[in-house]
Amino acid sequence: MTEDTLAKPGPPEAKAASVPPQAIKGTHDILPGEVEKWQTLERLARETFELYHFRELRAPVFEPTELFEKGTGSTSDVVTKEMYTFIDKGGRSLTLRPEYTPSVVRAIMEHRLDLEGAPMRYYYMGPMFRYDKPQKGRYRQFHQIDIEVFGEKDAAVDAEIIEMAHALLGKLGVAGTETLVNSVGCRACRPAYSVALREAAAKRRSDLCPDCQRKAETNPLRIFDCKVEDCQAIARSFPSIQNFLCGECREHFAALLVCLAVLKIPYRVDPRLVRGLDYYTKTTFEIVSSHLGAQNALLGGGRYDDMMKDFGGPDICGTGFAMGIERVLSVAELPPSARRILYVAYLGGEAKRTGLALARFFRANGVECLIEYKDRSMKAHFGRANKLQAAWVLIVGDDEIAKGRFGLKDMATGHQVDGTREELLDRLRES
Ligand code: HAM
Repeated sequence: MTEDTLAKPGPPEAKAASVPPQAIKGTHDILPGEVEKWQTLERLARETFELYHFRELRAPVFEPTELFEKGTGSTSDVVTKEMYTFIDKGGRSLTLRPEYTPSVVRAIMEHRLDLEGAPMRYYYMGPMFRYDKPQKGRYRQFHQIDIEVFGEKDAAVDAEIIEMAHALLGKLGVAGTETLVNSVGCRACRPAYSVALREAAAKRRSDLCPDCQRKAETNPLRIFDCKVEDCQAIARSFPSIQNFLCGECREHFAALLVCLAVLKIPYRVDPRLVRGLDYYTKTTFEIVSSHLGAQNALLGGGRYDDMMKDFGGPDICGTGFAMGIERVLSVAELPPSARRILYVAYLGGEAKRTGLALARFFRANGVECLIEYKDRSMKAHFGRANKLQAAWVLIVGDDEIAKGRFGLKDMATGHQVDGTREELLDRLRES
């Protein structure tokens, strides 16, 4: 990480000459102007998930490293190459979460949420951390919206969450998507598939990259995640998992496709969609965008029926997905912001103090109000209000104070009225 870290602290003279601090490569500031889009997306996500009876569950940003080694999986790229792992002052190995699913599973087990009897449907939005090579759509600190459902084995719930993802993408104005679905089988049928893959990989061993040669031994399914083009081409010639599914997995997958058809969600079965994390069983899915380049997955997810049991907890199945906020926002057509500002224009010291009290009154009544403490002429105030695209200007001068009646100018129409603060508030509420 040394190439990314800030200049090392040195003596004061050296500090003075050092370059100004910058954000770490692969991380971003989300500035005013951009942040409003995030807020809209977050609001629409919450509203949507609550319609489907999901509740928010917030877990810590860092967790014991073994949670991800065991949960995400020791053969996944995320665990082998991409984790931000560090030893804390107590000598514990901790990791900045690279994904959210294992944290939710841990929280359920720790708080025995399964005993509450409430539907186990959770959502969360927040930063995740992966040490991957930054490029467009791939960052080291990125943000996910994650949803998980527990205790529902039926393929109908997989279809329901795919439909929920579509409902949210629709509200966000995301067009040009394709839904890919697959089944990666279960512990009963996947071993035979792994043997077939291992055999296929052995035949092409010398053409595979060193990483895939290793994966062929440890977990040949992970060859499908390789980003090297030659390996991807070879993987396309490998046998399809669809031909190895056991009866139960085949039935589950068929039921998923029926439910998607009932919900009128168009999909394409992609037998190579094994997803990069080790825990999936049966359903996997992704929604990809035709408007993005290499990093085209807007969201991905699937079923993970063994994770809780493998952690030593109750045998409760899970299914869910995570959406990449940066990627979704890069293709979203969001409705314009509905913010309307009342700008307070005053002349002189007394008017400034009256303006301050008036701003308090309007804000207390739900009007977004801006007063700046620079002594400006009325003309300069209006110039400033224009620049800020204020919806209205409140005019406060000595005459207005004497009468207890203030001016209110509608900046779109140019129409001006005067009135007491209560009358003006009524006006604002009507417009
Ligand atoms: P994932 O496919 O690793 O799945 O990530 C989900 C989404 O997060 C991706 O489709 C993408 O939009 C976004 N994403 C991933 N990595 C990056 C990155 N480096 N920069 C920007 N965006 C990124 C999971 O994380 C699973 N936990 C999903 C899940 C939930 N499966 C079951 N439940």
